[in-house]
Amino acid sequence: MSLTPRIDGDRLLGRLDAFAGIGATPAGGVNRQAFSVEDRRARRLLAELALERGFTVFQDGIANLFIRREGTDATLPPLLIGSHLDSQPTGGRFDGALGTLCAFEVLEALEDAQAETRMPVEVVAWANEEGSRFAPGVMGSMAFTGADAATWKSVVGADGALLAAELDATITALPEAALRPTGIPISGYIELHIEQGPSLEKEQLPIGVVTAVQGTRWLEVTTQGTAGHAGTTDLAYRRDPMVAAIAAIHRLQTTIMPLDSSARLTVGRIAARPGSINAIPQSVAFTVDIRHPLAEQLDVIETEVRQVCAAEAEAQHCTAMIKRSFDMPGAAFSPDMVNLVEEAVNSLGLPHKQMISGAFHDALFLARVAPAAMIFVPCRDGLSHNEAEYVEPDDAVIGACVLLRTAIMAASPR
Ligand code: GLV
Ligand code: MN
Ligand code: MN
Repeated sequence: MSLTPRIDGDRLLGRLDAFAGIGATPAGGVNRQAFSVEDRRARRLLAELALERGFTVFQDGIANLFIRREGTDATLPPLLIGSHLDSQPTGGRFDGALGTLCAFEVLEALEDAQAETRMPVEVVAWANEEGSRFAPGVMGSMAFTGADAATWKSVVGADGALLAAELDATITALPEAALRPTGIPISGYIELHIEQGPSLEKEQLPIGVVTAVQGTRWLEVTTQGTAGHAGTTDLAYRRDPMVAAIAAIHRLQTTIMPLDSSARLTVGRIAARPGSINAIPQSVAFTVDIRHPLAEQLDVIETEVRQVCAAEAEAQHCTAMIKRSFDMPGAAFSPDMVNLVEEAVNSLGLPHKQMISGAFHDALFLARVAPAAMIFVPCRDGLSHNEAEYVEPDDAVIGACVLLRTAIMAASPR
């Protein structure tokens, strides 16, 4: 006889602590970047927990990890629930891990109760969501939904490592997970995640029902000048790409966001070559991350970035080269799946609101191949991509309860 499936809050919180210990940083965050030794340890722990419970474990050619619990109708493709286990270099312990471990808790709750679902339910930990070590991000879900992973094999990481070698080592480190093709048919996808912004906490709402994700574009700018002696080169003879880069960044930061409260522009990485204290650099490379809920505004901002960089480079007798390294149009989630999340939230009597995600997520790509939705929980001060990222234990457990109810309804359609 089956019981009503219930989230075991203590088990979930214990798991969150255990995974936070993998790649733990002294400041209380995690450094568990994609395909690193720490990422491999986290994947191993999840796989071992799954095998102990009798679930089947799979991985695919881009190192997405799947944990499967069978349904009663073998003809139905699985419902996927999950998130990612990789982190930013100084990341928080909840970004990705919360959604993955809540999904695993859902699977265990179903198993504890011997509950039947019509569809198989699979927990997924998507590979390289963050993209901070190997760009672009959301590689796992992109490959799963049809992108050609072969094009990334030659990507060199921020630490000089080659993606192909690190990916291979990641897959072979987990022989217990049988390899299966990348991108199988699925019935739907639900992802729980921290909001990574302040609105739920401010409005004292435990749940955000996500209806859409805004678009993201990544640009790589290189200003080129002439390397020279720091002590002997007169101002009149300098072609300094650092001056050009700083002027361009300053102009962009004082125009784009101040003039449009929905726009986001971030320069998160900058490097001078040769990088010597007493040499004018030969070149300066920096990244630009731009976001906007309106697709056409991403074009407008990119054009502005190109014009400003060209003008500021010219003013220093330098040149600017711009490469687009990532273009992720936003997406709206399936109203049917969003309604299921609303139904689950309402059945639990939880205050909530509908919202758009400012961060990108694997769900964006899954939404292209199946009905998808996301559930947000609050995080303290809206902090994320920061070691101080924090989620109240009660909020984590409430999120897991919403995921469980939604997954039960989605996996056994009426
Ligand atoms: C995800 O990590 C993002 O940068 O939105
Ligand atoms: Mn994330
Ligand atoms: Mn992140």
